Amino acid sequence: MKVAIVQNPEEGSKLAAEIFIAQVQQNPKTVLGLATGSTPVKLYNLLAEANRAGVVSFKECQSFNLDEYIGLAPTHEQSYHYFMKTQLFDHIDIDQTKTHVPDGLARDIAASCKAYEEAIAAAGGIDIQLLGIGSDGHIAFNEPGCSLACRTHSQVLTQQTISDNARLFFNGRIEEVPTQAVTMGIGSIMDAKRVVLLAFGKGKQEAIAGLVEGAVTTMCPCSALQYHNDCIVICDEEAAGKLRNVAYYKYIFSQTGVSNI
Ligand code: F6R
Repeated sequence: MKVAIVQNPEEGSKLAAEIFIAQVQQNPKTVLGLATGSTPVKLYNLLAEANRAGVVSFKECQSFNLDEYIGLAPTHEQSYHYFMKTQLFDHIDIDQTKTHVPDGLARDIAASCKAYEEAIAAAGGIDIQLLGIGSDGHIAFNEPGCSLACRTHSQVLTQQTISDNARLFFNGRIEEVPTQAVTMGIGSIMDAKRVVLLAFGKGKQEAIAGLVEGAVTTMCPCSALQYHNDCIVICDEEAAGKLRNVAYYKYIFSQTGVSNI
């Protein structure tokens, strides 16, 4: 696992944008794994800017999102479909028929999860997976206690996640937050060829400590990434606040720079 500790979210987003742009320049047919939430917003702005400036094109890319709330239609303003459309897809030249977000309205959720896994496999697998991280250590919506081998599945959300996400719903009303989601599993995420995880702010300190230096345990699902052989964690000073080996990570980063962190 490579750890890049940056001054602030702006610097972290810039670094992540450089990694994604280089990846797509190198392989224009990149299969992108994408995330929602507050964390990637700045990164998506930077990708859209680079696309507008002609630095990178997403025309030949495909994308697969991590998750979607069960019960929300793609047009619902808090759905992850809507988020992706308004925060990224409408601002880049990607063919929107090649963007995929799990179906939160499927009648047969299990069949639709299976079909999602098959679509990822048919695309050749995810080349680069973007992740945020929950304050409880979840990645995608894999909550503490879930299997570290699971594939796309439905997941009951924890009270912690529901209250963390309430801020995004009408007037922050917790009753509006769906209690279940469809999510790629830890097993699906581990299959991505490269993983880039972003974490900003004090609220992510425990989760980052568990991810980078904790024991691998279902109680901190992100810790499974310790077994991924190409995982880059980009966190700001605040999110890194509970790491023990900060000086070492910074030393490595200063020696090897962006491309080889
Ligand atoms: C979203 C997702 C979640 C978020 C996490 C952090 O697609 O998979 O795991 O990355 O809940 O959310 P923010 O970025 O809002 O703190």
